Amino acid sequence: MTAVTIPGLDQAPTTHARLLTWVQEVAELTTPNEVVWVDGSEEESARINAKLVAAGTFVPLKKKPNSFWCASDPSDVARVEERTFICSVDPADCGPTNNWMQPAEMKAIMTELYRGCMRGRTMYVIPFCMGPLEAESPMLGVEITDSEYVVASMRIMTRMGAKALAKFGEDADFVPALHSVGAPLEPGQADVAWPCNETKYITQFPEERAIWSFGSGYGGNALLGKKCYSLRIASAKARDEGWLAEHMLILKLTSPENKVHYIAAAFPSACGKTNLAMLEPTIPGWKVETLGDDIAWMRFGEDGRLYAVNPEFGFFGVAPGTDYHTNPNAMRTIERGNSLFTNVALTDDGDIWWEGMGEPPAHLTSWKKQDWTPDSGELSSHPNSRYCTPMSQCPILAPEWDDPKGVPISAIFFGGRRATTVPLVTESRDWQHGVFMGATLSSETTAAAVGQVGVVRRDPMAMLPFIGYHAGDYFQHWIDMGKNANAEKLPKIFYVNWFRRGEDKRFLWPGFGENSRVLKWAIERIEGKASAQETAIGHVPAPESLDLSGLDAPVADIEAALEFDAQEWRAELPLIEEWFTKIGDKLPTSLRDEFEALKQRLG
Ligand code: GDP
Ligand code: PGA
Ligand code: MN
Repeated sequence: MTAVTIPGLDQAPTTHARLLTWVQEVAELTTPNEVVWVDGSEEESARINAKLVAAGTFVPLKKKPNSFWCASDPSDVARVEERTFICSVDPADCGPTNNWMQPAEMKAIMTELYRGCMRGRTMYVIPFCMGPLEAESPMLGVEITDSEYVVASMRIMTRMGAKALAKFGEDADFVPALHSVGAPLEPGQADVAWPCNETKYITQFPEERAIWSFGSGYGGNALLGKKCYSLRIASAKARDEGWLAEHMLILKLTSPENKVHYIAAAFPSACGKTNLAMLEPTIPGWKVETLGDDIAWMRFGEDGRLYAVNPEFGFFGVAPGTDYHTNPNAMRTIERGNSLFTNVALTDDGDIWWEGMGEPPAHLTSWKKQDWTPDSGELSSHPNSRYCTPMSQCPILAPEWDDPKGVPISAIFFGGRRATTVPLVTESRDWQHGVFMGATLSSETTAAAVGQVGVVRRDPMAMLPFIGYHAGDYFQHWIDMGKNANAEKLPKIFYVNWFRRGEDKRFLWPGFGENSRVLKWAIERIEGKASAQETAIGHVPAPESLDLSGLDAPVADIEAALEFDAQEWRAELPLIEEWFTKIGDKLPTSLRDEFEALKQRLG
């Protein structure tokens, strides 16, 4: 290897040979001005934030301690599914829901993009751990990035720096995750506030357990511990090792009788995970505490129950719609400071504002950095604007949130955003039927990914953009997980929809804190206390079995939200058929059987 002298490269606080070799190779390829080994300290964080303020990327907030406003390039605001690749060695291990390219071909393309791409910038080496540091085998990774924004965000979203590096020893396994915004600087060239590149690649190599990301600074594309590692790479690892890596929140529900249940719920991006995870029940005596709002890793414990761990350390939540009425606990979490706000509006007195926070101020700086007034005729905040805030600040964080053992899951919810067809809540008959519900889950697209919003698509287990291998194999893995378990101890599976609409397009169900009524019904079903009605699609609440006491909503709306409509479901059948045809030969026979049985029942 030619000895290239890049300041900082030789100051590695580790003797881990594979890590040192990789960092050296990346530095030689990308040719940064200097290399910084990130330790995660307060001093370092202050230095990085100051650099971001000086660059015009961050504006310090006057109204929240140690918090910053940030506006991205208007073209770099969401995940880019078209540019996301699963580069498995065998194409049969990928698709039909993923983009694929031969690993060598992808590496050749991306290597040329990476060549010299950090010129004029600092290369940061961020050791991190997904999930508790005290886990038996901590899930380690290292992100190399040339973005200070990524360093600041990874500090909130992951356990990182020296405390993570301490787990590496001489030879611990780790996921190498390479990121560049792809915006080299020539000598004397002024930087922009949000560097990025028109060309973007978000690439996973599942066999190598490696991630290469280029061209974007947006969370889901650039914070590689999150969707890339904890879902795409982890799902492939989980398939090999017999566990599940899922796009699920984890919450703790305590009944008035002090009985505790843990619930995991999978909803597509921007369909209500963070809100449900932090819900304030409207029904007296019930309590919700938060363990995670986006990702759950689940494996069977010695007692035969399925235990869930949240790999993350912070919340990366959708800002618009969040306020003291809808999600007071998210508001309390961000009030404590130490948070980043991207693509929301900035108030004249140095606070943040977004749509859904009540009456707008007379003047704002919009996410496009333009003057904004209530008459501007456009949104002040991007619909996918985000807050990034430490989990530890959440006032209803469950005490066991950092326990490496995880928590035993009683119920799994699958849900989507459907204006029609899907009732408020349906209980599956058994595990296989629940897997069918998950595998055929559908939702309207949202602003969390680039593309048209509001289009109904199948989003299996809310994992469509995140399954790191073939979707048919993924369904089989879910079926097998149930087959190999004690059926009595498996979580019960429910299908929910908070987003059904009336003819005038208003939501039929009030949602948010009122969703506690659905949680209660689910738990009472598990405990054998609530009654249900059998329908063609599963068990729905019997009249009066769903607690509606004190609910301020028109009875007709609630009935319409709960209704099973055979006509609407018959119209759904060709869409499921089309979806299963797309999955092809790898579709498990058991799911095909479930589909045939559903058709029979619908007549
Ligand atoms: P996540 O991306 O899945 O975590 O979704 P969020 O919890 O951040 O919610 C996304 C959007 O859906 C936000 O604008 C929320 O205000 C809205 N939302 C969340 N829960 C509900 C609900 O129960 N009813 C309605 N109508 N909207 C909701
Ligand atoms: P979320 O995901 O919308 O599920 O919170 C964040 C992302 O866009 O990656
Ligand atoms: Mn979320």
